[in-house]
Amino acid sequence: MGAFSRAACQVIDRCRTLAQFTEEPGFTTRTFLCEPMREVHRELTDWMTSAGMEVLIDAAGNIRGVYPATHPGARRLYIGSHLDTVPRAGAFDGVLGVMMGLALVELAPRRFNYAVELVGFSEEEGVRFGIPFIGSRALAGLAIEERTVQDAIRAYGLDPGRIAEAQAGPHALGYFEIHIEQGPVLDSMGAPLAVVDSIVGQSRFEAQFAGAANHAGVTPMHLRRDALVGAAEWIGAVEREAKSRPDLVATVGRIEASPGATNVIPGTCRATLDVRSPSDAVRRSAVEHILECGRQIAKRRSLRFESEQRLDQPAVSMDESWTALLEEAVEKTGAPVHRMASGAGHDAMIMAQRMPAAMLFLRTPGGISHHPDETVRSEDIAAGLAAALEFLNLLEARVA
Ligand code: GLV
Ligand code: MN
Ligand code: MN
Repeated sequence: MGAFSRAACQVIDRCRTLAQFTEEPGFTTRTFLCEPMREVHRELTDWMTSAGMEVLIDAAGNIRGVYPATHPGARRLYIGSHLDTVPRAGAFDGVLGVMMGLALVELAPRRFNYAVELVGFSEEEGVRFGIPFIGSRALAGLAIEERTVQDAIRAYGLDPGRIAEAQAGPHALGYFEIHIEQGPVLDSMGAPLAVVDSIVGQSRFEAQFAGAANHAGVTPMHLRRDALVGAAEWIGAVEREAKSRPDLVATVGRIEASPGATNVIPGTCRATLDVRSPSDAVRRSAVEHILECGRQIAKRRSLRFESEQRLDQPAVSMDESWTALLEEAVEKTGAPVHRMASGAGHDAMIMAQRMPAAMLFLRTPGGISHHPDETVRSEDIAAGLAAALEFLNLLEARVA
């Protein structure tokens, strides 16, 4: 077995090990700075230190390990992905990119003419507070002012007053992320790898329908102000809007009716909304229409409709010259070269606002992700490591 294959097996073992650190026994659920994240940080600190890295946890809860360059004062390549998960996640979304970054440092035959900083971002999914990319926002130097987020940082034993210190310094060379595709494209093509050229934009909202809770037995149908029925009608409208265009997706992923009893008419219903498109104009106009539908439905049903925006993240292109360099690296390893857009959000879209960014995708068997059945093939990890190491070498020639 070659070095890349051995490393690939270890990457899978490590991802599976970290998947055991969870808020929900029997599943992998690990939200922003939850208690199990401490165990992830402990394991990672051991592995990264053994690989010759200097490790710290920054004030946004990101774990960061620096593998020094051949000389002091060198530029710095950031390699990373996220360590938080959606509820009942697979073992590879995010974590794989961090473990492959670690494997690259372990496989590197020598130091490079730039330092490598491996980052395990604390938060990308936006599950705990409805706000994604908390970890990468800190590195990109964007403000993190949300009270709830700051309280969670304090509860973890970190100082939110020091978040500004987490931002990448002027020595930053760029950002490189490896991630599973999470969709079916590469699997259907029979291709192990893809180079990502852009990431679609996303909008996220928390919405609420408010009506009147009342007795389910004695309140006649025509006198009800049922918030959940209003939300149900709206969810249908969200689906119709998304289906009206091929370049648009929209999802209501969570609803919560209160007070939540069989024999009580729901007085309020909260719902999340996630809208994505490669076109920011299409996305924003869809959001407008969806929110207007909510207002109309509420009016007709004598309900109140409120919405709060949690994210308005434009679509982002990866750096063209880095993307071309990554394609060259893939080609050199003999793997087929394929370029594609990402429908999932990634830390790379935040880091790209601050420095050149490139992304490598690995095939996702069955296109299954955000699900416990998510997998990745060991041979694709080996192919990804070979291409990524080639990329690091090509980058070195460019820095020199
Ligand atoms: C992250 O996985 C996202 O695209 O929501
Ligand atoms: Mn995800
Ligand atoms: Mn991810």
